[in-house]
Amino acid sequence: MCGIIGITCGSEPRESSHGVLDVLVEGLARLEYRGYDSAGLAVVGADPAAPLWRVRAADGTHSLDVVAKRADEAPTEATAGIGHTRWATHGRPNEGNAHPHADCTGRIALVHNGIIENHVELADELIADGHTMASETDTEVLAHLIEANLAADPSRTLADAVRASLPRVRGAFALAVIHAAEPGVIVAARRVSPLIMGIADGAAFLASDIPAILGLTHDFFVLDDDRVAELRPGSISVTTLDGTAAEPKPLHVDWDLDAARKDGYDDFMDKEIHEQPTAVADTLRDRVLPDGTLVLDEVRITNDELAAIDNVFVVACGSSFHAGLMAKYAIERWARLPVQVDIASEFRYRDPVLDSRTLVIGVSQSGETVDTFQAIVEAKRLGAKVLVISNVVDSSMAREADAVLYTRAGPEIGVAATKTHVAQITALEILALYLAQARETLSPTEARDLLSAMGALPGKVADAVARAGAVHTVAEAYRDASAFIFLGRHVGYPVALEGALKLKEISYLRAEGFPAGELKHGPIALIEPGTVVVGVATRTPVWEKMISNVAEVKSRGASVIVVADDGDDETARHADAVLWVPATEPLFSPLVDVVPLQQFAHSMARLHGLDVDRPRNLAKTVTVE
Ligand code: M6R
Repeated sequence: MCGIIGITCGSEPRESSHGVLDVLVEGLARLEYRGYDSAGLAVVGADPAAPLWRVRAADGTHSLDVVAKRADEAPTEATAGIGHTRWATHGRPNEGNAHPHADCTGRIALVHNGIIENHVELADELIADGHTMASETDTEVLAHLIEANLAADPSRTLADAVRASLPRVRGAFALAVIHAAEPGVIVAARRVSPLIMGIADGAAFLASDIPAILGLTHDFFVLDDDRVAELRPGSISVTTLDGTAAEPKPLHVDWDLDAARKDGYDDFMDKEIHEQPTAVADTLRDRVLPDGTLVLDEVRITNDELAAIDNVFVVACGSSFHAGLMAKYAIERWARLPVQVDIASEFRYRDPVLDSRTLVIGVSQSGETVDTFQAIVEAKRLGAKVLVISNVVDSSMAREADAVLYTRAGPEIGVAATKTHVAQITALEILALYLAQARETLSPTEARDLLSAMGALPGKVADAVARAGAVHTVAEAYRDASAFIFLGRHVGYPVALEGALKLKEISYLRAEGFPAGELKHGPIALIEPGTVVVGVATRTPVWEKMISNVAEVKSRGASVIVVADDGDDETARHADAVLWVPATEPLFSPLVDVVPLQQFAHSMARLHGLDVDRPRNLAKTVTVE
């Protein structure tokens, strides 16, 4: 977890367009989705004899504001700086554990994302050699290890010392280091944790993720595992750990900076809900030829290999898991392949039975979620073909997989997944049809009808999104309710799970999702007068059974809200309130039905005065087990 950033732009940067401190603070604000327990930054000046300057704060969601205010105290001649926003793993979220961490001399400062697995062993050695650890973190040992390697050979540069240190380190890291003795230099390195770099206008910069530095360039470099980069104003040089020159991989990104900003919305979640029609349209774009053939050029699995697949696993977490559950219905129905959908953290430890005829689909917005990443590593080890659905180009999972299908939702900043979730459902539905095409399991007429319905989806999602006002009115009526049960059947079941997850994660209200048919096997005991039940009751093949379940809870005193197709008065008759949506082909309905549930959660959180983009205890990307 955590976000790191760094920039070097020579002396007098405050007069230039990319002032060190401004870039650090703005970039950290755009990285806060990675965690915001604390924030900090450090800069070096132009004089190698001068000390470096460091500020850190651990004031929850206000940490970065505190750091930004104190940035006025920084030396005006800052030539290079590094910054960090933290999601605590080792050590409490307090100022002492906030990054940047310093060595004993206070002249080296370091920021880190990842986990140093052998930090205890390294700390013991360093302490025995006279170093003093000032924090409870796993990270701090790195600063002292680099200090020790610099001291061991005075001819070494900072980059030399980093190269000498990293072979001792076990675990995952993306790190950036500065040294007061080397003005204008940042040394970066990575293993597993993401790190991108860029050059523009005589500056060079790095960050954990693209939005942080999107305003500076659209052309990035990706640092490979076990590479060390030296950033100087306007240049980046990369080596392996033994010092051999290496080339970083170029990466062009078309996103614009506005995509990483709020665009006039009160919060990113609202903005991202409104971007869903575009996310769906962009994910479909260029993938369906006019004659109905699906083209997934980036899927580097041959048609013969696809035709040989005889079973499918989907592995994912959170909202991505729900997208996987939705896809199960489509793949089984259209491609006639058995599908198992697994929570990634369970899959990897349960000795799954896979072979070369198994397709494992890893679904992850970030492509960095450690549980899903490790699940696909395990799947590959067992000989399965691995396809990843990710929103982040060249993410760790995309690199690990045999094939990748990108969702094209643009950067998602709100912690609650919205536009990336509908983009995932879209990509999975495309994949389901693609598998059906390869396996010839659909008649030409069926395939044509489905593709035509798919083409209409961006418009239907836009129609659903436009009804936020009506959803808000329903939320206002239930603002004082404290417990919600979400019910669905068939594809409505994962929609119910997603509705419950959205509500609990941003409004902190008790919300559970159940398959409606399971109600009588236990959960119905929860129903009492005043319980709010949200039923996904659009017209799927099991609509009548769903309506019976709705009637059962209503007769026991529950207040019932239903998601219903436009004009379906029969469904509305069973409910106290209706969230209307445009009707669509049942297997595509999750894309539309989930929208009012996202809006309902958003409205409830706003009505309760909560920060919807930064819910407590959560981080956007979970890179620890
Ligand atoms: O980046 P990923 O798609 O792998 O993330 C998976 C989950 O952590 C994520 O969907 C999480 O559940 C969201 N907060 C849901 O809104």
